[in-house]
Amino acid sequence: MDKQFNLEDFAAMLDEIANINPEPSELIQQGRQLLSNLVSSRGWLNETLSRLVLDEEFVQSQWLSIDPNEIILYRSPWKNFSIRAYIWEPGLKYPVHDHGAWGIVGAHINPIRERKFDLVAQEPDKHYAEVKVTADKVLNPGEITVVMPLDEGIHQMEALDRTAVTIHVYGPPLRKGYIKAYDLHFKQVTRLYSPYLQKKVMAIRSLGSITESWAEGILTEVLQTDAADYIRLECTDALRSRRGLLGKN
Ligand SMILES: [Fe+2]
Repeated sequence: MDKQFNLEDFAAMLDEIANINPEPSELIQQGRQLLSNLVSSRGWLNETLSRLVLDEEFVQSQWLSIDPNEIILYRSPWKNFSIRAYIWEPGLKYPVHDHGAWGIVGAHINPIRERKFDLVAQEPDKHYAEVKVTADKVLNPGEITVVMPLDEGIHQMEALDRTAVTIHVYGPPLRKGYIKAYDLHFKQVTRLYSPYLQKKVMAIRSLGSITESWAEGILTEVLQTDAADYIRLECTDALRSRRGLLGKN
């Protein structure tokens, strides 16, 4: 590697490229070279990790993300991309998932295993989805992988014998609010949300298993508001599952 990078250098260079408005493929191409330099450089994440441990206010200021192992490091003021660190513990299974945006991922501290998957069959009404492994690779610090949005970027990451840290650049989201998690054994797909939204969604899903009419009343009421698309989708799913239960009685 020719130059030691820090986060500020990296973000400034990527902002400069993104502001020319290149095609996403061009931004990804240039971004992956720069990210490779960043994740090969040592020491620039020390302050963030130290503050997470020692500075209570800094911890409290962290965004409550869908993934509890995510730390947001930078958001482009022009909303072109964000930079995040992920911390992976050995022996923990992280879900097979998709992304709302394209992403460039670099191994920074310790190696990380990445498996990529293709979606081979699905029946959204039944939450049925079948995926199959297409690649299985260990990334060593400095190495990069790329994920595309939605069904094109399904993958799973896993630390080996030591806690690993990866650095991710994500583009502007094509889909907001949730990621999809795929269960390989039950062949089911579930939408995962950030903590507060997840509570709301769990309540909606519980209404889908209550056959008394008040539950239908609430779900129908939500559909008459301007609630976000994913909340409407959850309500529609809950109404369908309720109807299924009523049909069985
Ligand atoms: Fe991911």
